[in-house]
Amino acid sequence: MGICDGRVVVITGAGRGIGREHALEFAHQGAKVVVNDLGAEVDGTGSSDGPVGEVVELIRKAGGEAVANGDDVADWNGAARLVQAAVDTFGRLDTLVCNAGILRDRMVVNMTEEDWDSVIRVHLKGHFCPLRHAAGYWREQVKAGDEVAGRVILTSSGAGLYGNVGQLNYAAAKSGIATMARVAGAELTRYGVTANAIAPAARTRMTEALFADMMAKPEEGAFDSMSPENISPLVVWLGSHESGDVTGQVFEVSGGLVAVAENWRRGPAQDKGDRWDPAELGPVVRELVAKSEQVRVIGAR
Ligand SMILES: NC(=O)c1ccc[n+]([C@@H]2O[C@H](COP(=O)([O-])OP(=O)(O)OC[C@H]3O[C@@H](n4cnc5c(N)ncnc54)[C@H](O)[C@@H]3O)[C@@H](O)[C@H]2O)c1
Repeated sequence: MGICDGRVVVITGAGRGIGREHALEFAHQGAKVVVNDLGAEVDGTGSSDGPVGEVVELIRKAGGEAVANGDDVADWNGAARLVQAAVDTFGRLDTLVCNAGILRDRMVVNMTEEDWDSVIRVHLKGHFCPLRHAAGYWREQVKAGDEVAGRVILTSSGAGLYGNVGQLNYAAAKSGIATMARVAGAELTRYGVTANAIAPAARTRMTEALFADMMAKPEEGAFDSMSPENISPLVVWLGSHESGDVTGQVFEVSGGLVAVAENWRRGPAQDKGDRWDPAELGPVVRELVAKSEQVRVIGAR
């Protein structure tokens, strides 16, 4: 018996890296999986049906059920087809994992309009479109009198929570995704649907060159804390029937670590009770900033 027995799960960007491990673990835990991937390069260019085909093959060989989908998650109609693929193939949808992503890292002074647009599109719109279609599907199920235990897991990043030098576009998108989980979590409770986000860290083609030291493989036999397989247990649990009381959260996850990322909150404050004169704000602002507990942007000097 797995903790996702009989559940139907859609996973975006599941042909490689972290998403691939989610697909394998969900199947291992008894879920029927729609494996989505465009088969793009890390910068979002190109496409191939090789990676999804391999994952579907692996799941089937292990006795599980899976189907491939090659739609672009940031395409409105493509995302609709993806959600429909779950319903057409397996009769329903229980869990949506939005994981697909790309990188176009540049310092802001060199970032092009296309670098910005493509990253914002794949991450923000590529999370919104499947989420919107899945939410619409669950609302219809509730209206029809069906009991819904819908689960949504979005994929943020430490870059989105803390900022990362060289990733203005990606960090902005990933911050937005963390906030999407909080808002969707609040809005979808009434339909029996939870929404949470993860901020993972693992060795994939996205990170092995960028953070080479951190991502290095350990000695033979030691715990490989940067294996992408370490991310999936939390995602599978969040995607299971058991996690219905946890929503609107963002979890950092890496190796054996699971941590709740606390959201923006008001820090040191001063209320004059009247309108400020700009000239008097200098010392006030400096004192508030000095008292605050800001985490430095990753890579900042
Ligand atoms: N690896 C890390 O340490 C790390 C850290 C923080 C966040 N993340 C996030 O985790 C997710 C997975 O990243 P990964 O490291 O496994 O990278 P990856 O490049 O191995 O996997 C991403 C997958 O998404 C697919 N994809 C890209 N655009 C797509 C689109 N429009 N439609 C469908 N599929 C598309 C790619 O083809 C690829 O297979 C991403 O959202 C990434 O930003 C990863």
